[in-house]
Amino acid sequence: MIHDATIAPTDPHAGSAATSQPDAFTPPADSSLWRKDFLLGAATASYQIEGAIHEDGRLPSIWDTFSATPGKVVGGQTGEFACDHYHRWESDLDLLTQLNFEAYRLSIAWPRVMDEAGRPNAKGIDFYKRLLGRLKEKGLKTFVTLYHWDLPQHLEDRGGWLNRDTAYRLADYADLTSRKLTGQVDSWATLNEPWCSAYLGYAEGRHAPGRTNGRYATQAMHHLLLGHGLSVQALRANDPRSQKGLVANFGRGTANSEHPADQRAAHLFEVQHNAWVLDPLLKGSYPEDLFELWPGTEPLVLEGDMETISVSMDFLGANYYFRSNVKSDGAHGFTEVPLEGVERTQLGWEVNPDGLRDLLIGFNRTYANLPPVYITENGMASDDAVVGGRVDDSQRIAFLKRHMAAVDEAIKAGVDIRGYFVWSLLDNFEWAYGYAPRFGVVHVDYDTQQRTIKHSGELIAKFLAERRARG
Ligand code: FCB
Repeated sequence: MIHDATIAPTDPHAGSAATSQPDAFTPPADSSLWRKDFLLGAATASYQIEGAIHEDGRLPSIWDTFSATPGKVVGGQTGEFACDHYHRWESDLDLLTQLNFEAYRLSIAWPRVMDEAGRPNAKGIDFYKRLLGRLKEKGLKTFVTLYHWDLPQHLEDRGGWLNRDTAYRLADYADLTSRKLTGQVDSWATLNEPWCSAYLGYAEGRHAPGRTNGRYATQAMHHLLLGHGLSVQALRANDPRSQKGLVANFGRGTANSEHPADQRAAHLFEVQHNAWVLDPLLKGSYPEDLFELWPGTEPLVLEGDMETISVSMDFLGANYYFRSNVKSDGAHGFTEVPLEGVERTQLGWEVNPDGLRDLLIGFNRTYANLPPVYITENGMASDDAVVGGRVDDSQRIAFLKRHMAAVDEAIKAGVDIRGYFVWSLLDNFEWAYGYAPRFGVVHVDYDTQQRTIKHSGELIAKFLAERRARG
């Protein structure tokens, strides 16, 4: 197997531009990131890395269908091969140890582990058993997400997240996997970013299943969150020693002017991105402002649903990427006004570490019952290339350093944050954008499947080795 991923301190290129700032990443001595009990890891998701979509009884998922639909993904790309992780998982896990990570966040592919009748697929389950077993042998903490967007297509054919029954099917899946994998998982997240599933999948149609009816999004969200609550019950019953929670994406919205209408627009942006998920989970109700933004879209809520949804969680996973500057749209909502002269990534996303700090501090003030937080995703895309055997991703190095500093500031302001996962271990299939955006700390050559640790990965490994050495 071609696998060029060694960290060579005596590399002949050392001292070149790529390595001229050896301390460009390592946090300052007073940073909470040096604390031994602060966990540092890397994250991936099944559909983005596994490939092997037809193997060992895996069923089709909504992302297979969506990406095979012309015009949905840039260049018509799909997850059919992706990083071929299904076959290369052992050497990919070796990368985690080479990089000195302490934890790994992965997701299970629902269509791999259950058949249409809800029966276990032994081969699929065995794959995750072996993978998690190896992670445990390596001494890594395992953070497993059940639903990172790859809904079995047969459930979509019955209405997907618009069908209340899908929430119960998610709980069946949680029940099955937690019975089969008990003891191998330190932390279970029921859902990844329900905002993306509901809003991008059902209102905007930029993600699978590609529906474009604004009224659907709130109902889809309700069923996703109901599925979360039901799943936590199943996970608690089967695997009491692990942590249970949910991973959400959060958006920072700032106002384009002091004008009250623009201030209100920024507030509504954050209601739509954050409170839509956090209020039901932590307060047991949907934010009223959401229905000012989207009048008449109240979901059908049955008696007892909100109690199920607001089941207590052991942790909240927070994913953060960028800030949005908004103004009033002159009616009920907001419209984005991209700022000039700010740093952006390959995807045009604004680099704004303060947004992460401010959100975390804000949530801590708003929700008295905010559980301990893990930053379950943070990172950036750049158009990285291997040059002379090395990948210089200096923008990512600065990005990660600044965002980790923002996390440290939030901790010092009193937020209980227990860990940070970089998105991502590997370059991978970036959903509707295809393979061009590269988020990994390890570069993937999709023609040869060769992996090359980027400069950011080298500096993370160095910091984590120093941390370990301090004991
Ligand atoms: C998040 C997703 C993750 C990845 C990053 C860049 O929204 O959870 O799978 O695509 O964005």
